[in-house]
Amino acid sequence: MKNVIDWIQQATSIVVLTGAGMSTESGIPDFRSKEGRWQQVNPLTVATVEALKSNYALFQSFYRARIQALVDVTPHNGYYILAKWQQQKRVTHIATQNVDRLHQKAGATHVSELHGNIETTRCQSCGKQYDDATRFLNEARCTCGGALRPNVVLFGEYLPEEAWEKTIQAIRHADIVFVIGTSLSVYPVNQLPSMTTGKLIYINLEPASNDQQFDATFYGKAGEILAQLDELLL
Ligand code: NAD
Ligand code: APR
Repeated sequence: MKNVIDWIQQATSIVVLTGAGMSTESGIPDFRSKEGRWQQVNPLTVATVEALKSNYALFQSFYRARIQALVDVTPHNGYYILAKWQQQKRVTHIATQNVDRLHQKAGATHVSELHGNIETTRCQSCGKQYDDATRFLNEARCTCGGALRPNVVLFGEYLPEEAWEKTIQAIRHADIVFVIGTSLSVYPVNQLPSMTTGKLIYINLEPASNDQQFDATFYGKAGEILAQLDELLL
């Protein structure tokens, strides 16, 4: 941990990339752990455009449940530490695969949401944007009559161009890239670590298949490890 502290103190650009494991300490299940979402439901039946078209009722109930489960969720301490590091100009870019906006709720700004967000919705037919999920949770029909969906990027859909490009640029020039709470199972986000020449640091409960690429690995809870690192920083 000492050498990581030295790297952080010498760095001028630190990028943070998070996944679902960053939110489990806030009570949101991840996807591929033994209690993960994809152990209970096949993502092909709910998290693809095909699912949206062929079984809208199941798609709608899956995302409605996820939206309603977020209502009282608050960021854990690890999110506040990352927001503080951003305010201190240590962290220069935060990118996440999560759709829960807990980074922002903890005070982080300019977060690149690589898989979109679940708070806002749009019409699958006319593309009309809605600032919240109220209509999706109630009649779930657009004013044009089309089906509504959250602005979550589904399997097979493209990632938001700006978020993706900004993250690639930031990672390319980073002194350090922290990869936190992700199994790195999903393309193309799992390609990001290989795009940096900086130090790669992995914080995750369990090893990933390709974590030999990291310069430092911490296996444990993100909130606890971030707190230990924060305490050692001047
Ligand atoms: P994939 O190849 O189906 O998806 C990758 C594509 O989905 C990329 O274009 C990526 O940009 C896009 N994508 C955008 N947002 C995503 C999100 N929130 N989650 C996942 N992908 C997102 O993904 P894969 O993991 O390589 O899966 C291969 C096949 O296996 C797919 O058909 C997938 O549905 C199925 N599957 C995937 C998972 C999983 O979580 N990755 C689990 C079980 C089955
Ligand atoms: N601290 C650190 N790591 C944790 C914690 C924690 N408290 N809790 C869980 N983890 C780890 C798990 O061990 C797992 O390796 O976080 C990782 C989460 O991996 P996934 O469940 O695969 O989630 P993620 O990598 O974000 O999935 C990527 O797949 O299906 C899509 O839309 C989904 O955006 C998501 C994408």
